[in-house]
Parts: sequence; structure tokens; C-alpha cells
Amino acid sequence: MSFCSLFEVLQLKKTRVLFCCLGNICRSPTAEAVFRVRVEEAGLGQHIEIDSAGTHDFHIGKPPDTRTQRAAMKRGYDMSGLRGRQVEISDFSRFDYVLAMDHANMENLQRLCPQKEQGRLELFLKYASRHGEREVPDPYYGGEEGFERVLDMVEDAAEGLLRYIRQASG
Ligand code: 4NP
Repeated sequence: MSFCSLFEVLQLKKTRVLFCCLGNICRSPTAEAVFRVRVEEAGLGQHIEIDSAGTHDFHIGKPPDTRTQRAAMKRGYDMSGLRGRQVEISDFSRFDYVLAMDHANMENLQRLCPQKEQGRLELFLKYASRHGEREVPDPYYGGEEGFERVLDMVEDAAEGLLRYIRQASG
């Protein structure tokens, strides 16, 4: 392959982002929906692939939690088309960023992930600038305010992540 065509291929390479939580019905699909809106607003939909998955199999094929969907819809994020899936080993080679919502998710991912791809695993809130916490708390067993808090944190980190990816890809 000539230098020129290799350069073109590198330029065209998509950045792939996978958001992960426990069940894939609350936090990670919220991150997927919010980040997709930010990416589309930036006109980068062709360049960034986005997905989410759970470390466990409780909710495979299920739509996001109704409380999650209701809170997200109030802010303009339609999550109704999303369906739960479980993390697969092939995700670790496919996705450039595999972003965990909390330390327990991170430990589960570290156990599953091949050694050579461990560097792709990060806590999502590393990219937040308005929140000092490093975990998105699990809202599943709490009240409505927990879902608002998830959205606040996710919106913050999604903006930071997009900024970072734009800088990293020049
Ligand atoms: P998520 O929340 O990991 O943010 O999707 C949860 C969803 C379901 C359960 C726990 C957390 N569950 O125990 O079924």
C-alpha cells in the first residue's frame, strides 16, 4: 500500500466507544444516548461509533429502565430504541475506549479483558470536569433524583470525552 492510501485509511479510521455498566439498562445506555447526541451535534456521527453493554446478563434484549427513559426524555434523549446486551470478548479489540461507570464494573471488565487490551479500560468520569467523583452511582434501587444525577454526570463526562477524542484525532 502506498504512503498516500495508508494515510487516507488512517484518517478514515473510526473511533469506537463502548460504555459499560452492570445491567445495561440505566447508566451505560444513558451514556450511549447522551454521547450520540453530542457527537451528532458536532457533525461527527460518521467518525465515532458508539455502543453500550452490561457486564452481567440480567437484562439482555430488554429496553432501558422506564425511570431512566423518562428522565432522559425530559432532557431530549430518546432511549426507546436501545436494547440491553452483555459485554463480549471481541468488544475489547473492537472498541478503542471501553468506559466503566464504577469501580465494580471496572474490576469485572479487567477480569474479562485480554492483557494486551487492558489499556482501553477507563472510568468514564475521568473525562468529567464539573464533578470530582469518579463513579456514576447505580440508580437502580433508589429514587428519581438518582436518575437526574446520572444524567448530570454523564452529560459532563460526555462533553469531556468528545473534547478529548477531537484533540487526540487532530
Ligand atoms: P445499570 O443499573 O448497571 O446502570 O444498568 C442496574 C440495572 C439492573 C440491576 C442493577 C443495576 N439489577 O440488579 O438488575
